[in-house]
Amino acid sequence: METTDLVLAILHHLLAFVLAGIIAAEFVLVRAELSPATVKRLAVIDRHYGLIALAIILIGAGRVVWGLKGWEFYVYNWVFWAKMACFAAVGLLSIMPTMRFIGWNRQAGTDAGFRVPEAELAEVRARIRTEALVFLLIPIFAAAMARGYGL
Ligand code: HEM
Repeated sequence: METTDLVLAILHHLLAFVLAGIIAAEFVLVRAELSPATVKRLAVIDRHYGLIALAIILIGAGRVVWGLKGWEFYVYNWVFWAKMACFAAVGLLSIMPTMRFIGWNRQAGTDAGFRVPEAELAEVRARIRTEALVFLLIPIFAAAMARGYGL
C-alpha cells in the first residue's frame, strides 16, 4: 500500500539521519580532556545509538516486506546485501567504543579525578572515524539499489 510505503520511507530516512547525527556527535565529543560530564553524555548518547540501530533494522525489514517493490526486488540484489554488510560492519565497529564508554563512565562515577587514558581515546576516535566512513557507503548503496542497480 502506498501510504504504508511512504510512512516506512519517512521513518527510515529520519532514523538514518539520527544515526548519522549520533556518530557525528560521538566523533566530536571524543577529544582530549574528556570531563566526567562528557563521559556520561557519551554513554547516554551511545545507548540511544543502540535503540536507533534496532529501530532502523525493524523499519528497514518492514520496507523489504511491505515496500511497493516487493521483497524479491531486494533479496536477489547484491547492492542490497552490500548495504546490509556495511550496516553490520558499522555495528561491529561500534562495539569497542561502546565498551569503552561504559567503562569510562563507570570509572568516572567512582573516581572524580579519573582521566581517560590518551591511548584509549586515540583508539576510540580512530574507530569512530572508520565507522563514519563505512556508514557513508550505506546511502550510496541505498540510492543505487533503489534504482535497480545490482539486479
Ligand atoms: C537493516 C537495515 C536496513 C534495511 C533492511 C534497509 C532497507 C531499505 C529498503 C528496503 C529501502 C527502499 C529502497 C527502495 O526504494 O527500493 C531503503 C532505502 C534507503 N535506505 Fe535503508 N535499510 C537499512 C538501513 C539503512 C541505514 C542504516 C541507512 C543509513 C544511511 C539507510 C539509508 C537508506 C536511504 C537513504 C534509502 C533511500 C534510497 C533512495 O530512495 O534513493 N538504510 N532501505
